[in-house]
Amino acid sequence: MKSFVVVANRLPVDASPGGLVTALEPVARNAGGAWVGWGGTPDEAAEPFDHDGVHIRPVELSAQDVDRYYEGQSNSTIWPLFHDGVEPAVHHREWRVAYEAVNRRFAEAAADVAAEGATVWVHDYQLLLVPGLLRAARPDLRIGFFLHIPFPPVELFMQLPRRTEFVRGLLGADLVGFQQPLAAQNFLRLTAQLLGLHPEGEHVEYEGRTVTARAFPISIDAAEIDALATDPEVLAEAERLRKDLGGDRRLLLLGVDRLDYTKGIDQRIEAYGELLADGTISNDEAVLVQVATPSRMRVAQYQQLRERVEREVGRINGEYGDVGRVPLHYLFQSRTRAELVALYLAADIMLVTPLRDGMNLVAKEYVAARRDHGGALVLSEFTGAAAELTDAFLVNPYDVDDVKRGISAAIAAAPDDLAARMRRMRERVLEHDVARWAREFLDALT
Ligand code: ADP
Ligand code: F6P
Repeated sequence: MKSFVVVANRLPVDASPGGLVTALEPVARNAGGAWVGWGGTPDEAAEPFDHDGVHIRPVELSAQDVDRYYEGQSNSTIWPLFHDGVEPAVHHREWRVAYEAVNRRFAEAAADVAAEGATVWVHDYQLLLVPGLLRAARPDLRIGFFLHIPFPPVELFMQLPRRTEFVRGLLGADLVGFQQPLAAQNFLRLTAQLLGLHPEGEHVEYEGRTVTARAFPISIDAAEIDALATDPEVLAEAERLRKDLGGDRRLLLLGVDRLDYTKGIDQRIEAYGELLADGTISNDEAVLVQVATPSRMRVAQYQQLRERVEREVGRINGEYGDVGRVPLHYLFQSRTRAELVALYLAADIMLVTPLRDGMNLVAKEYVAARRDHGGALVLSEFTGAAAELTDAFLVNPYDVDDVKRGISAAIAAAPDDLAARMRRMRERVLEHDVARWAREFLDALT
């Protein structure tokens, strides 16, 4: 039995990268609690075990659960709808049934490992019903919930079948955390609209309890990135990358994402292609490295995105490349954190252009890595990070001309202007790191 329990779809032991595990792993390690989650492989039964000071309690998902709960309701219904509907959300009754059944399994596992009066922290859109289910089983617990992705505007949320149950699910928590203040306000408005509740400020009374909804913008383990950025091997790797890509005279642009249609990867590549086409940059002076880690590859929209991106990469390299020198290196691969930091250090311009993103940790990682105050960040205004990293070159990713303008402005900026921007952004990220985020959330919860 543990007095602190994290509940999330993924365990911190599988290899799939993503913001949630990156952010929470150091928090769970420090707390020495339990982590309830899925190991990432269908039909795999696993016994509880200890990992890096955390008690791991695996939840089993059958191949059909993965199909309906994870790829279906989580990633084909809720994910697109909560990201502004940038791809149309798909709705199926059997997905909703599976989602509820799997949420129940997570809640039961959490109830099983949580000690009397424990604090349980539930995470993200895959588990919206867990707070309510857990509250019903274990009224003694303090329950927190944090949503890592955006919470949609009220009008969009209203499209969700069985929308009221999702709101009730979240109201099972004592504290519901969001990335941005507007998200918390949207949620509170829905409690009034769907349940006739009377929110006041950031609180709402529900079934005799007070539920608080508030923004807690998430962050990174900035000290870890900062330390990697001084590691001699990482520095040597950054040197080697620059040399391999054509030496110091070549301007290196970089994108690092899960291959996801919310990340604006195709819009970014389109803008880069147009800059080559109109002669603003040439293959002699610039190179773009796009690292895109495979993600949710059984979902149709992700396969379509992959095809679009690969076609565009081929077109651009065909049109503007030369023997031994191409303008775009596309790596459909995952990289270690040390390798990512080497890329961050080598990159003159980091391109983070999501159409919508709850936070975007890559932007914060880039800034944390630049202890030399070098480099420039081109950042979509539709990320949570844009609220904090106001010294970035902010762009509207829906407007290719604006993305081109942002990149051109970063290229043209004076070195001392860039250094001043990076210093300010770095101070912000180092001070507001993930440990502080967790402390603020847990202080508010307990
Ligand atoms: P999301 O949560 O949507 O995946 P974030 O930018 O918030 O997006 O977090 C992504 C995390 O995954 C970051 O810590 C980033 O370093 C990591 N990541 C993204 N792409 C890759 C990649 N190609 N290889 C390794 N790690 C990656
Ligand atoms: O917060 C974003 C998020 O969806 C996490 O919940 C998730 O773990 C991560 O991105 C990566 O996605 P997935 O777990 O589907 O591979």
